[in-house]
This record gives sequence, C-alpha cells and structure tokens, in this order.
Amino acid sequence: MEPILIVDDEVEMRIAMSETLKHSGYPVELSHNAIDALNKCKKNSYSMVITDMTMPKRSGIELLKDIRKLSDTMPVVMVTAYGTIETAVEAMKLGAFDYILKPFKFDLFTFVVERALSMAEERKSRPQKKPTITEIKGQPDSGRSREIVTADPIIQQLLGVAENIAKSKATVLVQSESGTGKELLARYIHLHSDRPDGPFVAVNCAALPETLLESELFGHRKGAFTGAIQDHKGRFEQASGGTILLDEVSELALPLQAKLLRVLQEHEVDRIGGKEPIAVDIRVIATTNQDLFARVEEGRFREDLYFRLNVIPLQLPPLRERKGDIPLLCDHFVTLHAARNGRKAVSISAAAMEVLCHYNWRGNVRELENVMERALLLCADNEVQPQHLLMGQATITDVAALVLPKGKGKTKGKAEAAPAPAAAGSNGSKPLGIGVGMSMREAEKKLIFETLRELKGNRTQAAKMLSISIRTLRNKLSEYAGEGEKFDFDKQD
Ligand SMILES: Nc1ncnc2c1ncn2[C@@H]1O[C@H](COP(=O)(O)OP(=O)(O)OP(=O)(O)O)[C@@H](O)[C@H]1O
Ligand SMILES: [Mg+2]
Repeated sequence: MEPILIVDDEVEMRIAMSETLKHSGYPVELSHNAIDALNKCKKNSYSMVITDMTMPKRSGIELLKDIRKLSDTMPVVMVTAYGTIETAVEAMKLGAFDYILKPFKFDLFTFVVERALSMAEERKSRPQKKPTITEIKGQPDSGRSREIVTADPIIQQLLGVAENIAKSKATVLVQSESGTGKELLARYIHLHSDRPDGPFVAVNCAALPETLLESELFGHRKGAFTGAIQDHKGRFEQASGGTILLDEVSELALPLQAKLLRVLQEHEVDRIGGKEPIAVDIRVIATTNQDLFARVEEGRFREDLYFRLNVIPLQLPPLRERKGDIPLLCDHFVTLHAARNGRKAVSISAAAMEVLCHYNWRGNVRELENVMERALLLCADNEVQPQHLLMGQATITDVAALVLPKGKGKTKGKAEAAPAPAAAGSNGSKPLGIGVGMSMREAEKKLIFETLRELKGNRTQAAKMLSISIRTLRNKLSEYAGEGEKFDFDKQD
C-alpha cells in the first residue's frame, strides 16, 4: 500500500499522527513543511496527504493548491485549530476531502483517514459520472419538479460551488429566505455527491417537540422510556451512506444541539437508552431562514455548532433580487402543473406576465408556484390572464392597481361587493364573486363550494373539474369543516 504523507511543522503533532496511523497498520511518511511535502509528492506516490493548515512559509492551503495541480483526485485532509475555521472553509472549496479540528480524538482521526482512503478507492474503480441538471430532470421519482430553473448568474455560480463541494463531506449551511429553494439545493448537492443513490433524509427541526425530535433524530432502544416498545432507528442512522437535511436547524433545542455537535464531531450517534454509540457515515446539510449567527449572539444557538455547520455557507438570493427568473419560473410551473393535472399546455398572457414581474414575491419561489398552480385552476381557456392571479391579501391591491382601470383597485371589504376581476365558473356559469380584497383561501373555498353546488355535490366530478385530486378535495373540505364551515349543497340551494 502507498504511504500516507503527514505534513506538520510541529514535531510532536507529526509523531502523534504517525504513531496513530502506524498503530492502525498504515505506512506513513513525514514532512515538516509544504515545500518539502510538494517535492515528495512530485517524486513519490502517496495514498493521501494530511496537512496542518498553519505552517511558516507556505501554508496548508497553498500546499493543497499545489497538490491539486498535480492531481485532481489525491485526498487531502486538513488539520486545523478552531480559530482558523474560515480557512478550513476555503480549503473545502478548493477540494480538500475533510478537515479535522485540533485538538482531536485519535479514533476520529483514524476514521476520517479510513473514509478518505475508501472513497478514493471507490472513485478509482467507478468511472466518474458527472450528473448535470438534465440528468436530475430524468430522475424517475422527481420528474421536472426537482429541476432548478434559473438564468441568474449568482445562482449559476452558486450551483457551480455546490457541485465542487458536493463530493466532499463538508457540512453545508444554506441560509436564505423562506421559499427560495433551499431544499431543492440540498437535493442538488446530494445528487452531485459521491453517493447519489444513497438515502436522502429530510427532517424538519421545527415540526416536532423536543422529546419526540430527539428520538426521531437519534433513535431509541426498546424500554428507554414509556412507550418505547421497540428499538427505533433514528434519522441519522437511516441517512447513513447518504445525506441528511436538517431543515430549520435554528429551531433545535439546546440539548439537541449538543447531541448534534457530537454526531458531527465523532460521526456516531447515541440512541436514547442505548449502551454503545453507533457509527454513522453521513453528509449533513442544514438550512435556516433565520440569521443563525444572531441566534448565537442571543445565546440560543451554540457557537461551536454554528461553526461546525457553517463550513460551506451558501445563500440563495430572494426572488425580488433576480427578477429575470420570474418569467422562466412562471412558464416552468404552469407547464409542470398542467402536466400533473392532465391539462393541455397553458400560456401566460402578456398582461398577466407584467403583473407577475412587478409583484414583490415575499414568499419567493414557493409563493410563485402556488400562484401559478391556482391560476391554472382558475383559467378556463388556455391562457392565464391577470384576473387568474390571486396573490396574498396584503399585496393584492398593488396587483389590482396594475390590472384594473384607475380607481377600482382600491375597493376593499366584502368580496361580494368587489368589482371585476371575478373568475367565472369554468363552464361560463354565474360569477363567483372572487375579487380584490379577498384572501386566496376565501377565493379557493368559494370556487370549490360553487363547483360542488353546480355538480350537485358530486365530489369526483368536482375534483376533475377543479383539476385536483379527490384526496386534495376531501382534505380541503375537512379543513373547512374544521373551521366550522361544512358544505351541504342541499341546504345551500
Ligand atoms: N429555481 C427553481 N426552479 C424550480 N423550482 C424551484 C426553484 N426554486 C424553488 N423551486 C420550487 O419552489 C418550491 C419551494 O422550494 P424549497 O422547498 O426548496 O424552498 P425552501 O427554501 O426550502 O422553502 P422553506 O423555507 O419554505 O422551507 C418547491 O416546490 C421547489 O421545487
Ligand atoms: Mg425547506
């Protein structure tokens, strides 16, 4: 086996690392500075390089850059002190395999080395396949819904960075506004990683109360607490060999933050009530729409965890800062949802596009997708018109000002009193009284009730006419019922 090259200017560190690796049966060679190490790399071949980051003359980063000129694939692991974490980020972007924070435990050190070597081995035996966005389109379970549509140079650059770092194990933190595509980006990274066929497990940290989330994430042993009737594999274990997405990570309670930190540092999880830790091999992607560092300053988020998560910081710009993407996304979503609902292709009128491009998309791409899906539902013929665009209540008057003749956009109050635009039933029956000043939810409810009344309460037909599934219709009706509004067409007639 080819030796591992260890580069460190401190003799004690060199010896400690080499003894650990020798103990595990690896041949090693030592070097005391970056220039000497590079010369060695030119002359001999090594299975991997482990280098200290801060060294006099040439740094570990410079050595990494030099090595990358010689070889694209040689695994390089950086050893760094806590204070130089920023540089560790830099190193990961430049293609380092991983980094280890000093002081480290020696079993973690060996673990990282083993992983680097086995991954390099795997890469050699498998021809490099570079997935592209087009390939993601072709994923059987995802269809076009996983495609990232953008013409924005900042996002395109970001996707480039994402692809570069996807192959490493570095933890990624995506901090962006709600609905900007954080999860989509996380999946993109997973699909470009070395393990696209491995599991992709998403956990929303805000969705569950602390105790449930703990067992969900870390698992438990049978009998660990009342109700633990059998062993439960946590999400980290389920994600082993793949990627875990920790959505809304800012909401994680402090005790769980401590446990997460341990997973990230030691690559093992402790099931609740478990005796032995369980090794996991995961790539962690965390997302938040909060300012996580502000949480650190408020004492609500651990600083060490913040730095551990924020190795590769990525930020998706809000939609209002990339208006050029709006027409592309609108076309994408009407096509996507028309296909899903078995409808013919639908176009967007110039007037409607004007409204869409001028709207301030506070809910970002998610809001745009909802508006387009709704527009499709409301437009009877095959062109989306301004009156089919029902945006959030707070801003609907802004839109109306663009759409309606002067003066009419200001109308407030009861929907019945509102003037046009009002969507007519799809068969051209009586107007629904949907108009400016009304919430999207109200409008939807009216459309559903009116359609049902028209069809004498036939839900199957109504669902078909509304281009939604019967299940969606049923869910919506039970939601309305929960709010005390039951549909009973006999009574209403
Ligand atoms: N660039 C894009 N191209 C195509 N679809 C997109 C794009 N960005 C987002 N989407 C779609 O918009 C919706 C919202 O995206 P996603 O769930 O990834 O956002 P998010 O930032 O995680 O939102 P939240 O903060 O609400 O969790 C999804 O249906 C996603 O597929
Ligand atoms: Mg999300």
